[in-house]
Amino acid sequence: MSETSHRGEIAELLTEGRVLKPSADFRAQAQYADPEIYARAAADPEGYWADWARQLHWFEPWSEVLEWEPPYAKWFVGGTLNACYNCVDRHVFNGLRNKAAIVWEGEPGDRRTLTYWDLYREVNRFANALKARGIGKGDRVAIYMPMIPELVIAMLACARIGAVHSVVFGGFSAEALADRINDAQATALITADGGYRRGTIIPLKHDADYALRTTPTIRHVFMVQRGSFPLRVVEGRDHWWHRAMQDAEPYCEPEPMDSEDMLYTLYTSGTTGKPKGIIHTTGGYLTGCLATTKMVFDLRPTDVFWCTADIGWVTGHSYVVYGPLAAGATIVMYEGAPDWPDRDRFWQIVEDFGVTIFYTAPTAIRAFMKWGKQFPQQHDLSSLRLLGTVGEPINPEAWMWYYETIGGGRCPVVDTWWQTETGHLLITTLPGIHDMKPGSAGVPIPGVEAAILTEDGQPIGKGGGYLALTRPWPGMLRGIYGDPERFVQQYWSKWPGLYFTSDGAKRDQDGYYTLLGRVDDVLNVAGHRIGTMEVESALVDHQSVAEAACVGAHDEIKGAAIVAFVTLKAGTLPSLDLEGELREHVARKIGAIARPQRVIFSGDLPKTRSGKIMRRLLRDIAEGRVLGDTTTLADASVVDSLKRQYEEREEAG
Ligand code: WTA
Repeated sequence: MSETSHRGEIAELLTEGRVLKPSADFRAQAQYADPEIYARAAADPEGYWADWARQLHWFEPWSEVLEWEPPYAKWFVGGTLNACYNCVDRHVFNGLRNKAAIVWEGEPGDRRTLTYWDLYREVNRFANALKARGIGKGDRVAIYMPMIPELVIAMLACARIGAVHSVVFGGFSAEALADRINDAQATALITADGGYRRGTIIPLKHDADYALRTTPTIRHVFMVQRGSFPLRVVEGRDHWWHRAMQDAEPYCEPEPMDSEDMLYTLYTSGTTGKPKGIIHTTGGYLTGCLATTKMVFDLRPTDVFWCTADIGWVTGHSYVVYGPLAAGATIVMYEGAPDWPDRDRFWQIVEDFGVTIFYTAPTAIRAFMKWGKQFPQQHDLSSLRLLGTVGEPINPEAWMWYYETIGGGRCPVVDTWWQTETGHLLITTLPGIHDMKPGSAGVPIPGVEAAILTEDGQPIGKGGGYLALTRPWPGMLRGIYGDPERFVQQYWSKWPGLYFTSDGAKRDQDGYYTLLGRVDDVLNVAGHRIGTMEVESALVDHQSVAEAACVGAHDEIKGAAIVAFVTLKAGTLPSLDLEGELREHVARKIGAIARPQRVIFSGDLPKTRSGKIMRRLLRDIAEGRVLGDTTTLADASVVDSLKRQYEEREEAG
């Protein structure tokens, strides 16, 4: 396409409702280019998923593809397999022994490449290091690490011996780590002395030591030596990774796991103050990750796949680790910040490693956009052939910028909708089949069925409603760790047998879904899920706070910014210092990602007669639609009069 016709097309596109075709070049070589696949999968979804599952190595075949007793699903019933074997051994034995599995760059610029054979050796030894300390099938292992290859090795080693990993994002606080360890009753923790972020050291083991004071179940701690950062070593409990590896046997038999045995748990925010441990099992999850990686990213053997998510989130689990490694791909991993030492770091990495598929979050794209195109333009990005986004709705303007500036108008963009609970992506376009509509994710992938429903479960033709998933899919969550009731209550009680996503959506005449954001009290801040209740409980934990309510105010880059409304205990006066202290308090309790951008002191919080906080009013105040810019509403009568106006308007309809 010539530069001018390309620009013409883009100008046209910015008019509402236009669509864009993936380039003819892309479509001509795409591996999934026949729309028939949708009809075939719809006619026989179980047969369709079984075909994908057969690409994995099973020790024992399954007897039944799906057993569905809503809301409990079992996929590939009776089959046994091992996720680590499928991500590593299978490739070593099938000719990919010398292929790069992980191409890694540390923030300071150090680099390592691990072939599948390297990965095999490391994983086997570390699996034995765990086993030698009595850790085995069914034990929970917490992982709190920087983005270094040992993180992947640790996860796969757990999978190899059948231990359940629980990765905790390295940006979470010690207290958040302790809560997650205790909820899962983990017996081992794998961490590192530290990791680099924006040139400074995040002292993970030092932070973990605080957590370890209140985690009685932990018997062993493994520490990777990333730098030479000082730390405390408790004899008998704490082990240096490299020493443990030296003493470990080189081969560890992979544990045959039932398809429905737990692979991992991952904590995510919900509508209560307590994060929930989402349970994923082995066979279905791995099948879904493999299928979507190959199909949606049109993965081929020569690709260099870079999903920029931290492994601490589900996107990292499914599209840094399990999907691409199950597919035998080469993955890129980068430890640090995108703007360190300069704002072209990602593009430097794309150029140096010849990245072909790039998958990131809208928040990152909006930041790149704000920094300006001179940064990507300093680099040769011609290796890229496909782009993806995930984690939050993408505004058409950011979509276009991504498509044009990063993809050069050459690379299709897939906007993939899914959740920690869904395990793998579920709604997107397939780049060899569909036109793209900036801002709209696309359609349910083959074998998946969705609907937009009213509160009482009636389908909505046009207009917005609740997004539901109407048939089981292989990667679906199997429960919430230690809380079976919450699982039923949260996802399956709104409409029996149908999965409630907590997202709003609408669908156009072509069946494309546009996501409208969460309909519950979960905020999406920079693509990360944070429950308003979590932040509120952190705030009321502070000695001067009587009550707190948090809302998400629109933020151009992060999507939502946390604004906290706080009423103080009698005798405490609002001040800038106190605002700073409260913001830090939340960061200490949960992690920097949950730090409120603003704290507004209020004499009272507006509540409905039934005692519910009027969040819409708070959002209007936070976004300056009423009152203008304000930092204190200390006079209770102000809130009272606003509340009255809202109620009157509500009653007037
Ligand atoms: C949102 C991340 C619009 C959505 C994989 C969902 C999206 C929540 C998209 C899950 C998308 C994710 N377009 N919204 N492409 N992808 N979301 O569990 O609100 O961290 O419910 O999983 O992110 O976030 P989670």
